[in-house]
Amino acid sequence: MTKNHSSLAIDPYYEGVPTYMTEVYDWAYVDPKWVRALDRNIVVRILLFLNDQRLMRAYLNEIKPGMRVWQVAHVYGDLVQRVAEKVGSKGVFHLTDVTPVQLEHGSRKLADMKWAKVIRGDAASFAGEVKEGYDLICSFFLLHEVPEEKKYEIVDNILNRLPKGGKVVFVDYHNPKKWQPIRYILKLVNRYLEPFAEALWKNEIKHYAKNADAFTWRKQTFFAGVYQCVVVEHKK
Ligand SMILES: C[S@@+](CC[C@H](N)C(=O)[O-])C[C@H]1O[C@@H](n2cnc3c(N)ncnc32)[C@H](O)[C@@H]1O
Repeated sequence: MTKNHSSLAIDPYYEGVPTYMTEVYDWAYVDPKWVRALDRNIVVRILLFLNDQRLMRAYLNEIKPGMRVWQVAHVYGDLVQRVAEKVGSKGVFHLTDVTPVQLEHGSRKLADMKWAKVIRGDAASFAGEVKEGYDLICSFFLLHEVPEEKKYEIVDNILNRLPKGGKVVFVDYHNPKKWQPIRYILKLVNRYLEPFAEALWKNEIKHYAKNADAFTWRKQTFFAGVYQCVVVEHKK
């Protein structure tokens, strides 16, 4: 049965979900049937051309037990449990997302870890739920999925929430080398499925920050430039 607009309006899985999510990523992150099928490690492994473990390690290696960590969006597979386990019971792990089904999956995965909390919140406006601020904030493959104006809002909101001494970790796509064959596969994928992704081929993540010069930006690329991990800290 096809969904008409009036059924979308009352479906709780669609309530309050940003338009770009329903227009572009309905099948990936909004429709519960699809999310149930896709939320697996093997899917992340294939999407990231077998680079999933090293990209996750780039994030996990920045976490120390006892830290207060905010991950701005859910990710398929077991990443959120691995983050929460590394943070440990003396720390805090807050996971936000904008779609009910992804929040549901995150809550199920983290149910046994009392120091982890799943909160409905937009990365562009979430104010945080820790008085002292987070020691580490991570955006794992979110920026390439959001429209250009949202990229600015998300980067600024995250940086505005970062206390002195804290760190932001952005893991995302980047401009692949011309000789990297994956570049041409991604061009096709982007054309049909990821209309906002190629902006990260042209712009450094720093470009989206109003106050970029107040921070240090440490970038590492992977897989001949296909991916990047950027660690951001306040300048001393
Ligand atoms: C992190 S990204 C992509 C991750 C990766 N493709 C994976 O393997 O899951 C996908 C998530 O971002 C969420 N999302 C989209 N826009 C958001 C926003 N403005 N704030 C927080 N989460 C958002 C989506 O609902 C989705 O759960």
